[in-house]
Amino acid sequence: MCSIIGYKGKNAAAPILVDSLKRMEYRGYDSVGVATFDSGSILVRKGTGKVIEVNKNLNIDQMAGKIGIGHTRWATHGGVTDKNAHPHSACKNDIAVVHNGIIENYRELKEELASSGHTFASETDSEVIAHLLEIHYNRGVKKAMIETCKRLQGNYAFVAVFQDGTIGGARYEEPLIIGVANDGYFVSSDVLGFLEYTDKAIFLENGDICIVDNSKLEIFDFEGKPIAHPITQVAWELGDIDKGKYAHYTLKEINEQRLTVVHAGRQDEAVMNKFCDILAGAKDIYITGSGTSYHSALIFKHMLARFGKIRAETVVSSESQYALASMDDKSVLVAISQSGETADVLDTVRLARNQGAEILSIVNVTTSSLARVSDGCLSTNCGPEIGVAATKSFTGQLALIYNITDRLCKNCLETERAEFAVVVENIVANQASIMKVAVQMKDASDIYLLGRSLHYPIALEGALKLKELAYVHAEGIAAGELKHGPLALMEKNTFVIMINPRDATFNDTISNAHEIKARGATVIGISDRKDDVYDYWIEIPHLKEEAYYPIAEVIPLQILAYQLALAKNADPDYPRNLAKSVTVR
Ligand code: M6R
Repeated sequence: MCSIIGYKGKNAAAPILVDSLKRMEYRGYDSVGVATFDSGSILVRKGTGKVIEVNKNLNIDQMAGKIGIGHTRWATHGGVTDKNAHPHSACKNDIAVVHNGIIENYRELKEELASSGHTFASETDSEVIAHLLEIHYNRGVKKAMIETCKRLQGNYAFVAVFQDGTIGGARYEEPLIIGVANDGYFVSSDVLGFLEYTDKAIFLENGDICIVDNSKLEIFDFEGKPIAHPITQVAWELGDIDKGKYAHYTLKEINEQRLTVVHAGRQDEAVMNKFCDILAGAKDIYITGSGTSYHSALIFKHMLARFGKIRAETVVSSESQYALASMDDKSVLVAISQSGETADVLDTVRLARNQGAEILSIVNVTTSSLARVSDGCLSTNCGPEIGVAATKSFTGQLALIYNITDRLCKNCLETERAEFAVVVENIVANQASIMKVAVQMKDASDIYLLGRSLHYPIALEGALKLKELAYVHAEGIAAGELKHGPLALMEKNTFVIMINPRDATFNDTISNAHEIKARGATVIGISDRKDDVYDYWIEIPHLKEEAYYPIAEVIPLQILAYQLALAKNADPDYPRNLAKSVTVR
């Protein structure tokens, strides 16, 4: 959602904060702000736009002071305006606060504070934190932090800078991590905020408060009781977030997928065995995820049933509170999440845990909240994914799901990983032919994607990519459902993508293509076999192991969505209204 960062150390804070915000911008990118403490005063500069733009306009990185906080916003309460950008101050300008999450009781707090004379400068829920801190600040920073946290309801992480140069942070259901450097401390939503400066991290837990005062760190709970957490060493590779030669992160990440397939295969034997043993011993299995990760869940369910003869249910995470009633202490929940921080997924995990279930997870960020609460966790190992649209993380999830399935079915899949990696590289290289299709589809207002079996989740995933990157109405449909309604939509100017490799689904899907073509729609086939019914054919290679087709199919759809975004002058890395990590409900 939003990214927050605090720094107190021996160096100028503002350039460090701006740099950190650039690295965490994927979390939110509609406004930016920094507050620094210098010579007894708190200075604030903030505005709408991306970090680079706002910094250029306001010279944020030149602000004085060795102590400061920063924020990139993804608006929830209050429009995208300079006033609503963080940091927020209270009435006396002796405090500035940056916040990630939602304060659910902000309305009543605001009324209460206003009736006792506080005036508000923004429409945000976050500003109440600054005013609450201000009320108690005369009793010291520790007291102010504790009393404020006790009044807040909702999910939050916030960092505040006080007029005495102290930095305070608090965590409740949103991530907050301390970076321990030789010459200072960071308090950040993500290790990427400080990894360039230190690989030593302390992961705060729910209900923790931290204070960095005179280069000393103190951690305690909402009652003021001291807490000790170990310092963890974080992998430096996480910091590898350079765009390299590519115009966009999304393009870089699409191009990296050959390696993704290889890296997802590198698993610790013991961890993999434990994961598979828990799955194999479960009375019932639920698989959950949001967005793209939910599409992986659908494929996982299919793979378990077809190759492992194991029955599993899928639950889209935002619906889990209505769907997990039959779960008990013999159940297993498999949570799939690139970030490991998606609020809906973490809520599902909490619910399952309360019913006694064991938790397994598939994540890309191994330091995430999800990874840390799981009984068994496997990593997709695909490195940081910065583009808001999930691309290589989806491929990584699928490659890992194939691994797990193969283990459970005692090597029943054809797993020539090196060979498959070359196949993936060839698909990625096929961008010119997809560009030709993108040119034809530039003005399309409705795109339908049809597939059966394992290809239906790919139809859903392709539609999601087209919506979020190219802002076009796109819908994934189980091809057999065409006759039950969607056929009424087929006419001239409608584009339909048939996901149709040469497997048991091929002939039925070709029949659907004829029905669609007969109604005047333009038919695009993604297939290893050419057919006259296709107006355009996106060729994919023939695969020995047909279970792997979803990876071969989704890459052309990612490329198509990326190219359509460019054709429409949309920024593929930062689609409007979206954020990479959705940490609110
Ligand atoms: O980090 P997660 O995998 O939990 O994220 C879940 C969704 O928010 C995410 O997949 C979203 O749908 C992507 N932007 C899709 O490209």
